[in-house]
Amino acid sequence: MEKKFKRTLITSALPYANGPVHIGHLAGVYVPADIYARFLRLKGEEVMFVGGSDEHGVPITIRAKKEGVTPQDIVDRYHNIIKDSFEELGITFDVYGRTTSETHRKNASDFFRTLYDKGEFIEKTSEQLYDEEAGEFLADRYVVGTCPHCGNENAYGDQCEACGTSLSATDLINPRSALSGSTPVLRETSHWYLPLDKWEPALRQWILEDHKEWRSNVYGQCKSWLDMGLQPRAVSRDLKWGIPVPVEGAEGKVLYVWFDAPIGYISNTIDADPEGWEKWWKDPETRMLHFIGKDNIVFHCIVFPAMLMAHGGYNLPDNVPANEFLNLEDKKISTSRNWAVWLHEYLKELPGKQDVLRYVLTANAPEAKDNNFTWKDFQARNNNELVAILGNFVNRAIVLTHKYFDGVVPPAATLEPVDEALIEQLRALKTELTEALETFHFREALRVAMDIARAGNKYLQETEPWKMAKTDMVRTATILNLALQTCANLAIVFEPFMPFMSAKLIGMLGMGEISWDMIGRFDLIEPDTRVGEAQLLFEKIEDSVVEAQVAKLKEAEKQNLLEQWKPEEVKAEVDFPTFEKMDIRVGKILECKKVPKADKLLQFRIDDGMGGRTIVSGIAKYYDPADLEGKEVCFIANFAPRKLKGVVSEGMILSAQDADGRLVVIGPTGEVRPGSSVG
Ligand code: MF3
Ligand code: ZN
Repeated sequence: MEKKFKRTLITSALPYANGPVHIGHLAGVYVPADIYARFLRLKGEEVMFVGGSDEHGVPITIRAKKEGVTPQDIVDRYHNIIKDSFEELGITFDVYGRTTSETHRKNASDFFRTLYDKGEFIEKTSEQLYDEEAGEFLADRYVVGTCPHCGNENAYGDQCEACGTSLSATDLINPRSALSGSTPVLRETSHWYLPLDKWEPALRQWILEDHKEWRSNVYGQCKSWLDMGLQPRAVSRDLKWGIPVPVEGAEGKVLYVWFDAPIGYISNTIDADPEGWEKWWKDPETRMLHFIGKDNIVFHCIVFPAMLMAHGGYNLPDNVPANEFLNLEDKKISTSRNWAVWLHEYLKELPGKQDVLRYVLTANAPEAKDNNFTWKDFQARNNNELVAILGNFVNRAIVLTHKYFDGVVPPAATLEPVDEALIEQLRALKTELTEALETFHFREALRVAMDIARAGNKYLQETEPWKMAKTDMVRTATILNLALQTCANLAIVFEPFMPFMSAKLIGMLGMGEISWDMIGRFDLIEPDTRVGEAQLLFEKIEDSVVEAQVAKLKEAEKQNLLEQWKPEEVKAEVDFPTFEKMDIRVGKILECKKVPKADKLLQFRIDDGMGGRTIVSGIAKYYDPADLEGKEVCFIANFAPRKLKGVVSEGMILSAQDADGRLVVIGPTGEVRPGSSVG
């Protein structure tokens, strides 16, 4: 359905204020949303870009409990860290609100009350998990247990992060309380439910029929939800932290965080535009877009729309360009394992490199499938693309202008085919770029933008103004004029992606106001304008910088493992005769070397007091073979021999595994003859 809209309301998922934001959040939501908002503004469209903190919900209270502070302390701290770091990254929210604001408390309450008064809720009493030690009902992340779908033992009461299934706390097998660790009991409580089943036909029509153009990951997830059949969903919780349920006799009950948070988009719009907010939400000529990560799809495509329909008078989103997940160095980003690149730390440790991050995250955007961020790739994209292609082209154009024309933009004379080709190519790329942006293909859009810089380099390579200057200054003038006009185009084209670079380039070229329309024009800078000194747009990133980042990640992860380490549970009892079957001996390492083509294995020659034996052990990562020679170890002497990478191993060397996974060889602490039995 092609529809003409007057203005666009862009929302971006409100991050939980229980920790800082990391590159996964940025790549999934905030960078693409900002690119899109900037793109529309450059086109001269009316835009409202809404952000804010999600400050209710169990993630906040769990964090508060862990740190021994109040939930309010937690949200105050992280709201500010997140807000400031977004700003520094150049994310241009028109408003960055909080769901603990007075506006929101009232707005969310009123919203609930409207649905309540219209009879849109069902009130139901059911048995819920209750922690008798803590004296609290356990919902959502307050309960951990085994996922009934995939067997993950650490699934949460609202979702299994391993398989992505959304759960109810009572679905969990062997539930345990995240508050006290105790096993919860069932206790009756009553709650309000939104009957999603009632809205199922309308949702089916709206998504499956009217929005076939949505991204296939989004459409597919919605379809599978709808095909499974929708159930009534509880919109209240027995918790202390949250917006009180505005109904008599509902003491101790608050709105479910996923009920109040999306209403936060409305509340924040009210704060941004107290008089005119309704036109952003209710005028059918306003287009609404939700930028989110894939774990939020059901809430934005099914639950929130059902709430809006039940309320009446509100627009539904026109599109929900949800992204998949970004991995980091081939592993899932994890806040609890501290496997993340945190935005506020990045900004401190790599100052002035906001655009590099925006660029790399867009180039690797997890649009159709999960994608991976590595520091090596970050460095390579900076050095080989930003420095070598974009930075190099702009630098050459400006340096040559200074060299041959004293920094004054020379006029273009007669155009030759090579010039026409450049102009034509740039115009074609503009069409491609605009189309990619309009359809939320940001990676593709960035690649096209970069092609303009590539075209510029190729043009200079072909026209060789540095040679032309020896014989024909009129022709040289034309070439440099076109090169500078291309730079001016680049300043506009890249504004949504890399606003800091763009501003610098605009300054260098002495350009005024820019707009998307101007792209493709070759009269953007007037002849006789003086251009500034050539400043580098990007700097090469050295190995040491990215190596330090990788080392930091590994160190943080290790610290985290050490903190969280617990000894394994003691195994089932055995009797002495069972133990005696193990023949454990002391041996002395005569020789130790790496097993060829096996990076984990070391091959030992052991003096076992019986003529010696060969043992292969998987500890190559933790030891330098030379350091082990002459050391004493304990080994199991009566394992059946087995072949490992072509070497027959006659036993097993004993080692202990430390919290970080490291294996440490175990040997006697006093002097013992090789071959002695251990028991
Ligand atoms: N805080 C949620 C998350 O991080 C997102 C909330 S989006 C909103 O997954 F719509 F509810 F605001
Ligand atoms: Zn699961």
